[in-house]
Amino acid sequence: MEVKTSLLDNMIGVGDMVLLEPLNEDSFIENLRKRFDHNEIYTYIGSVVISMNPYRSLSIFTPEKVEEYRNRNFYELSPHIYALADEAYRSLRDQDKDQCILITGESGAGKTEASKLVMSYVAAVCGRGQEVNKVKEQLLQSNPVLEAFGNAKTVRNDNSSRFGKYMDIEFDFKGDPLGGVISNYLLEKSRVCKQPRGERNFHIFYQLLSGASGDTLTKLKLDRDFSKYNYLSLDSATVNGLDDAASFRTVRNAMQIVGFMEDEVQLVLELVAAVLKLGNIEFKPESRVNGFDESRVKDKNDLKEMCELLGIEQSVLERAFSYRTVEAKMEKVSTTLNVAQAYYARDALAKNLYSRLFSWLVTRINESIKAQAKTRHKVMGVLDIYGFEIFEDNSFEQFIINYCNEKLQQIFIELTLREEQEEYVREGIEWTNIEYFNNAIICDLIENNQNGILAMLDEECLRPGTVTDDTFLDKLNTICAEHQHFESRLSKNSKFLTDHSLPHSCFRIQHYAGKVLYRVEGFVDKNNDLLYRDLSQAMYKATHSLMRQLFPEGNPAKVNLKRPLTAGFQFKASVGGLMRNLQTKNPNYIRCIKPNDKKAAHIFTDSLVCHQVRYLGLMENVRVRRAGYAFRQPYEPCLERYKMLCKQTWPHWRGPARDGVEVLLTDCSVPAEEFAYGRSKIFIRNPRTLFTLEERRRACLEDLATLIQKIYRGWKCRTHFLLLKKSQVVVAAWYRRYAQQKKYEKIKSATLVMQSFTRGWKARKILRQLKYEKRCKEAVTTIAAYWHGTQVRREYRKFFRANAGKKIYCFIIQRIMQKYFLGLKTTVPSMSPIDNTWSAQPYSFLEGAHTELRRIFHLWRCKKHRGQFTEEKKAVYEEKLEASEIFKNKKALYPSSVSQPFKGDYLEIHKNPKYQKLNSAVEEKVLLADVVNKINRANGKGSPRLFLLTKNNFVLADQKTGQVKASVPLPDLTSVSVSTQSDGFFALKLKEGSASAAKGDFLLNSEHLIEIITKLHRTWTTAADKDQINIDISDEFLVQFKQDKVCVKFIQGGPKNGTSAACKRKNNRLLEVSVPSSP
Ligand SMILES: Nc1ncnc2c1ncn2[C@@H]1O[C@H](COP(=O)(O)OP(=O)(O)OP(=O)(O)O)[C@@H](O)[C@H]1O
Ligand SMILES: [Mg+2]
Repeated sequence: MEVKTSLLDNMIGVGDMVLLEPLNEDSFIENLRKRFDHNEIYTYIGSVVISMNPYRSLSIFTPEKVEEYRNRNFYELSPHIYALADEAYRSLRDQDKDQCILITGESGAGKTEASKLVMSYVAAVCGRGQEVNKVKEQLLQSNPVLEAFGNAKTVRNDNSSRFGKYMDIEFDFKGDPLGGVISNYLLEKSRVCKQPRGERNFHIFYQLLSGASGDTLTKLKLDRDFSKYNYLSLDSATVNGLDDAASFRTVRNAMQIVGFMEDEVQLVLELVAAVLKLGNIEFKPESRVNGFDESRVKDKNDLKEMCELLGIEQSVLERAFSYRTVEAKMEKVSTTLNVAQAYYARDALAKNLYSRLFSWLVTRINESIKAQAKTRHKVMGVLDIYGFEIFEDNSFEQFIINYCNEKLQQIFIELTLREEQEEYVREGIEWTNIEYFNNAIICDLIENNQNGILAMLDEECLRPGTVTDDTFLDKLNTICAEHQHFESRLSKNSKFLTDHSLPHSCFRIQHYAGKVLYRVEGFVDKNNDLLYRDLSQAMYKATHSLMRQLFPEGNPAKVNLKRPLTAGFQFKASVGGLMRNLQTKNPNYIRCIKPNDKKAAHIFTDSLVCHQVRYLGLMENVRVRRAGYAFRQPYEPCLERYKMLCKQTWPHWRGPARDGVEVLLTDCSVPAEEFAYGRSKIFIRNPRTLFTLEERRRACLEDLATLIQKIYRGWKCRTHFLLLKKSQVVVAAWYRRYAQQKKYEKIKSATLVMQSFTRGWKARKILRQLKYEKRCKEAVTTIAAYWHGTQVRREYRKFFRANAGKKIYCFIIQRIMQKYFLGLKTTVPSMSPIDNTWSAQPYSFLEGAHTELRRIFHLWRCKKHRGQFTEEKKAVYEEKLEASEIFKNKKALYPSSVSQPFKGDYLEIHKNPKYQKLNSAVEEKVLLADVVNKINRANGKGSPRLFLLTKNNFVLADQKTGQVKASVPLPDLTSVSVSTQSDGFFALKLKEGSASAAKGDFLLNSEHLIEIITKLHRTWTTAADKDQINIDISDEFLVQFKQDKVCVKFIQGGPKNGTSAACKRKNNRLLEVSVPSSP
């Protein structure tokens, strides 16, 4: 819901002066001061906005503020310039009424700033789009350009407008801006040549010199130093808070946005430079023969530079400063100029040049911003004219400026009253006339065509004969003497004869805004605004295109002998035009007030404000506004605002608003003379009535607030209570549930315990019962079994005895065997074949099996052991086995041989070169080679022989020579004889009749007897393919030595016989071998 607000809300003082009570000057000023102190710089008088210059930036011009005031009614929010701009824009857009915004006030009161605020507000709220934005931007950017060329620092204002400006902004039917037209009024051109103390020339001169690049200045033949230029005052060349260099950049940028071409800007700057140069041209007198002085240019350098800049022939300009040609009818007369006249001509040229340049700029801007479409436009005019001025020394310019302000004041009075009157008529309310000061009389004093000051000035200027400012004053003294607003020392009016504040060369006018003393000096000249034709012709001859345009009258082809129109006449005409224009539009007023003369923030000088309030006629304005009725308001908002004061209208009135207001006012007992009913508005005569209503409203609002508070509090408490109650119910429910749950769980667990106990008790009881029953059953079964057993046994006793023993025996045997085998499994000895351990025999009846198992186990592990043997090892073991079979327990030598490995070739016959011959003699592979002793039968001594065994033979050879002594084929061997003792003697017996046997048998002795005999036995067995060689082991055997058989007998000798056996011949038939007894 949109909240309806009003100007009356949160007011500081009163927002609308119409409501001021009591209404007098003091309360008026006090209200302004109060508001000013609270940063409320705007106050209304009805629809007129009073604006106080804050002299500092306030945060009330933000885009948010624009949005706040957009499309809001005028009195809805606190007073603001935006409210006025919005009202004007909306009536233009929605009601198709052309508007004008008249901004008045004295110099420095904030008119120009106000006009910019209005323009920026309108730009912000009107339509958008690329084209529209461009137009807006151009309109806004025209301000910096015109301000640079038309504003200057004065003692009253650092940015004082020195020209009048009226800008028409044109809109289409939608309210989108189409373009604009600017009109300018009389630039204060005297400032170009001379500035009062503490003031400056136009900003552009300082901006150009401070902000232009060195390059530009060189092109313009200028120097950055202000002091080099006579036209620039030095005492306030720089102004606090003004950055001329930055402003120059802004101006150039603005010119570009507005649409100036680069070369146009250059042309403009050249003319500005030319004005500065012109000021530096000085003259000196040169005596002529006729006794008169003729002026000559003193230093031609500046003249030369200026001519170069503008493309003017130097001599032409030089001549124009020395001579003046007067043309009358067909005659041309040339007169010389003295120095004073030359200076006058120079200054006239500078002023004309600058003011024409300024007008050209306005025309050029207009060209850019003019509306393109030729459709019907709605227009909003913004008037920002120079303010009313009172200086120490007031001249023609101030006269003109103040005249303009006088006219504006008049139009203000007229329109305000007319508007007021019209409203009363519109609303059907009776109108009573109000006394107010009408300044028409002053306007008449100035502008009256017969005897007005301007008319007389013109008359004086046009009059032939000697015309001076004094003759003009005389004329005034004669004609205006009786006028009540004209004062002069020499007038016929005797009351000023002794007024010493009024010098003789001055006249004084009582303007609406105060008395102003004008010095007549220069009035005639300034009004004539004379520029010698020679100069304008010289300017026209320039090659500078803009210069030519500015001085069209210099064209010799269009010589106009008529006197140019006077400045006063032109101004009067243009002001007249402006007034006519304004009267066709709906006016909106902004009355600017300057709070102090120091250009400072926060200072409110009562006397100054009071003076402005007086001359602006603000009190009259309020009075006029209040003449009939102080306050008026449409019925709807009025009813909306005060409806709470009456029971019938509160809270809703269902009927026409007017009836509602009637009921309301009757109910409030407002006296009938205090109000009147218009067609759409209620008119309240006295502010006091309004304030009474407001007061009652405030009280009522307080009551209502209390009521609302009460109801709200009640509602809040109730809601809170209900919420608490609801919560309590919920909490209680939850708690109960929780408690019940807990209780239930307890009961449940107790029940379970009890149940389990009971069940346990019952179960135990049943178990006991069952056990008992089971035992009974078991007992019964046992008894029955026993009984049956007894029965059966009784019955089967006879069969049982016959077979039971065998069965029991088998069973027992089976059990014993089982136990035996299981026991044997755990006591099985290791896998080593030489491990003789074996478990003890448990039962004697198992002896056979036990022994057999031991044998089988042993065989099995031997087989396993053998299985691990290599072929070589196997052969060795086979040989050892064979040796064991032959000699074990038969010969005492055997045990000692068991541990000796059978080496075979002890001689290493193949490697040893000693046996090379022998080796070659024995063709077969040698199985054994050793040194043996061959026992000689004759003495029983042994001689060493080499003994070789091959597959088919054994060979005896000489140990030294290796010569084979005997080679016996194995088949010729019949038997071998050895003793039972530990000696190494053995006899190789040969087959009788064989070739080998010719020398008889061999009796040999060897350390390796066991090995030799074993190998011989093996080889012989394979070679002879016989069963076995006959090995005779006995301590006495016969040996055939050639023909004789000799008995070899072995005897056990004592240890004294040494360690080895010794053989001795006992006789022909006996050889005795003594074998040492074993230890
Ligand atoms: N609304 C404002 N906010 C802040 N400063 C302001 C405002 N209005 C005016 N000023 C200050 O006051 C100075 C003078 O204002 P402005 O130039 O508008 O006066 P003026 O009425 O146009 O004077 P003149 O008649 O000499 O042209 C401005 O330069 C600015 O510093
Ligand atoms: Mg201004």
